[in-house]
Amino acid sequence: MRVFVTGGKGDLGRRVVPRLLMSGHEVVVGTRSPQPRSDGATEHRYQLSEPTELPERTAAVVHLATDPFRSKRDLIGIKHLVVAAATAGVGHLVYVSIVGIDDHPYPYYRRKLGCELIVERSGVPWTILRATQFHSLTRIFAEQFRLPFVLFPSGIPFQPVDADEVADRVAEIAVQSAKGRASDLGGPEVLDFKESIQAFLRATGSRKPVWSMPVFGKTIKAFRSGRLLTPNESGGRTFDQWLLSVSGRN
Ligand SMILES: NC(=O)c1ccc[n+]([C@@H]2O[C@H](COP(=O)([O-])OP(=O)(O)OC[C@H]3O[C@@H](n4cnc5c(N)ncnc54)[C@H](OP(=O)(O)O)[C@@H]3O)[C@@H](O)[C@H]2O)c1
Repeated sequence: MRVFVTGGKGDLGRRVVPRLLMSGHEVVVGTRSPQPRSDGATEHRYQLSEPTELPERTAAVVHLATDPFRSKRDLIGIKHLVVAAATAGVGHLVYVSIVGIDDHPYPYYRRKLGCELIVERSGVPWTILRATQFHSLTRIFAEQFRLPFVLFPSGIPFQPVDADEVADRVAEIAVQSAKGRASDLGGPEVLDFKESIQAFLRATGSRKPVWSMPVFGKTIKAFRSGRLLTPNESGGRTFDQWLLSVSGRN
């Protein structure tokens, strides 16, 4: 079947695409900058902020495109996408979301929840899979500052999951019939987010310290409350195992 994967060149998307190809499906990657490729997939111009034109004969859509720092675009994008999917009679819309976003004040999470509601009310058969933070999110925080230190709030528990395991689940779900809410997917252990960023830096040879960022208010309280955790753990790769796989890259 033909599967349209928005954000198919992102962290999760570039793992989902080969899995779908390996299982014999035709994949069209939605991206802002389409290029020729040699793996058998094709690319199709996709922009969250514009009305969506789905590739012909799309049977399922896996929606992974996201713009966390301009997340109003995620809401605009999902509105366009459900219209396109309903018009084209798409049989399955898969949306990947985040564990613990209900009643969370963090703006990105409020918008992810808004996107979930739009998917649920779209009339298109849907599956929503919520996952915890990927191991690789520590790299994003570790590398985002061009300063000799990293600032991050202390006391945030998180349950990092391997993006490959999430990709396995997404690729399986995408070619099955719609399930509604799938079981949440989390990693095998609960760690301290700030300490894990520090561990990533050490493992990749950086001496940058991670300093506690003083933050107050309901958003940090929500992050510290443990609501990003799930009892549904994958049993898969631990954070230390993931660190071993990335530590050779620097
Ligand atoms: N990372 C995590 O820890 C985590 C945890 C749980 C759930 N999730 C969810 O999983 C999904 C995938 O996350 P990810 O970490 O793979 O994201 P990512 O690496 O940031 O990739 C997102 C992709 O979205 C596309 N994109 C960004 N802005 C766009 C725009 N304005 N229009 C069209 N496309 C745009 C980009 O593709 P192009 O540059 O090719 O256009 C990018 O590759 C998201 O829904 C995220 O919320 C992530």
